Amino acid sequence: MELLEWDARTYDTLPLPHKRWGVDVRARLGLTGTETVLDLGCGTGRDAQQLLAQLPGGRVVAVDGSAQMLDQLRARLPAAGHRLVTVQADLREPLLLAEPVDAACSVATLHWLPDHETVFRSVRNALRPGGRFVAEAGGYGNVSGFLATLGEVVDDDGARFWNFADVEETRQRLRAAGFTEIEVDLVPDPARLARGAQLEAYLATVVLGAHLREMPPQRRRAFVHQVAERMPEPLIDYVRLQISAVRAR
Ligand SMILES: C[S@@+](CC[C@H](N)C(=O)[O-])C[C@H]1O[C@@H](n2cnc3c(N)ncnc32)[C@H](O)[C@@H]1O
Repeated sequence: MELLEWDARTYDTLPLPHKRWGVDVRARLGLTGTETVLDLGCGTGRDAQQLLAQLPGGRVVAVDGSAQMLDQLRARLPAAGHRLVTVQADLREPLLLAEPVDAACSVATLHWLPDHETVFRSVRNALRPGGRFVAEAGGYGNVSGFLATLGEVVDDDGARFWNFADVEETRQRLRAAGFTEIEVDLVPDPARLARGAQLEAYLATVVLGAHLREMPPQRRRAFVHQVAERMPEPLIDYVRLQISAVRAR
C-alpha cells in the first residue's frame, strides 16, 4: 500500500494529545545534551524542535515517510543546520542510517507500521550498543469505542490500517530484536475534543486519513461529519503502548 500523505498544516493547528505524549517520551530518554537522537515518525518536528533545545551539543535524525510532514518540519526548523538530518523513508522497510545514534524515540507512529519485528530490528541496528529506545503508540484496545461507532456508519471499520500491539508480544519482539532492560505498559489515555469543527478536523487529519484516502473526495466531509455526530461523546478512547528498552551491548 502506498504511504499515506498527511495534511501537515492542519495537523499543527490541532489540540494534539501527542504534545504531552512527546514530553513524556523525551523525559524518559534521560538525555545529557550531547547525544544524537533518532526520531522515528517525526511528523512536523514538534519533538525534534524540543530535542534540539535539550541537546546543545547533540543532533537529531528525523525520519518520516510523508513529504508534507517533512516540509513542515524543515519550515519549523530553518536554522538547525548540521544539527538536524531529515530522512524520508518508509519505516515498513528496514531503515539504514549512515551513522549510529545514541538514542531513539517515536511518538504515535508504531501503530501505523504492520511489522514491529522489522521496525525494532531497524532501531536496534541504528543504535549504538547501550543506546536507549523510548516510544509510545496506540496499543491493544486503542480507539475500540471509536471503532465501534465507525462500524455503525460503515461496514468496514478499517481496523486493518493499524497495528495495536499488546504488552507481551511487544516484549518478545524487543527481546528477539536484541534489546534488554525492556519495559512495556498499556495505559488508557482518552483525549477530549470540542464538538463541531475541532472534532471533525481532528478526525479527518489524525484518525481517519487512511479511511478517507479510499473514498471519493466529494464524500469525505459528509462522512467525517456523520461519524462525529454518531460519537456519544467527543472523546477518543486512546490506549497507549509505552516502551523503554536498551540495545544489548
Ligand atoms: C500521528 S503522526 C505522529 C507524528 C509525530 N511523531 C507527532 O507526535 O506529532 C504519525 C507519523 O507517522 C508517519 N508514518 C506513518 N507510517 C509511516 C511509514 N510507513 N513510514 C514512515 N513514516 C510513517 C506519518 O507520516 C506521520 O508523520
